[in-house]
Amino acid sequence: MSGANVPAVLILLGPPGAGKGTQARMLEDRFGLVQLSTGDLLRAAVAAGTPAGLAAKTVMEAGGLVSDEIVLAILKDRMAEPDTARGVILDGFPRTAGQAEALDRLLAEAGGRVTAAISLEVDDAAMVGRVSGRYTCAGCGEGYHDEFKLPATAGTCDKCGGTAFKRRADDNAETVRARLQAYHAQTAPLIAHYRAMGVLETIDAMGPIESIAEGLGTIVGRVSA
Ligand code: AP5
Repeated sequence: MSGANVPAVLILLGPPGAGKGTQARMLEDRFGLVQLSTGDLLRAAVAAGTPAGLAAKTVMEAGGLVSDEIVLAILKDRMAEPDTARGVILDGFPRTAGQAEALDRLLAEAGGRVTAAISLEVDDAAMVGRVSGRYTCAGCGEGYHDEFKLPATAGTCDKCGGTAFKRRADDNAETVRARLQAYHAQTAPLIAHYRAMGVLETIDAMGPIESIAEGLGTIVGRVSA
């Protein structure tokens, strides 16, 4: 549907640890799209101590979902920025029926609609290990894993050469279990919403990162042609 003047709107759906962020960053580079992660936007608001960030902090630390009102306000502001003109990859949004309906309305007002919602299919049991082993470059945000994705040179970011890394406060086993629960209760039902719209795609996301990227690239190339 992403015709000449209508930017592609791709959604990555999947539980914590499914690889949404990892794959979104790879798709950004390959297709010239912009990754919009509501998790990253909320963490920036928390770090900046804005009123939205203060309200979101406790909910995020407990593994619950931040209110639709806060998330939608942050997302709308970000989508209005000029770098989104070629298209966006939504990572971690929408997460509730209310968010999905608000997105549909927002896009319809601009004459568009969701191009594709791609569900990353994974086994929950493996997600705690994936999330607990995750860390990112403090400089550029590139993601790594203690076991599955190490920098080529130990202690140095492949992307920007930075040497400082960080781990997220909510990446502990107990919080991951709460986040998985929130995913199944509030976000997984969106799969039916996008199937009914005729834009649902699915991919097995349990293999190696590079093979999943290849499969996703094929889907994105097809739906945004
Ligand atoms: P958010 O930041 O969106 O976190 P999440 O959805 O829980 O997803 P993650 O970032 O944990 O996982 P991911 O799928 O991106 O996996 P990744 O690629 O990093 O949200 C955090 C919180 O913010 C929420 O709990 C909520 O409170 C709030 N929030 C955010 N959006 C919201 C919204 N719309 N509404 C309400 N609240 C909202 O991969 C994980 C690790 O595994 C990495 O180390 C990676 O290297 C590794 N890995 C990736 N793929 C593979 C593979 N194929 N094999 C082996 N390892 C892999």
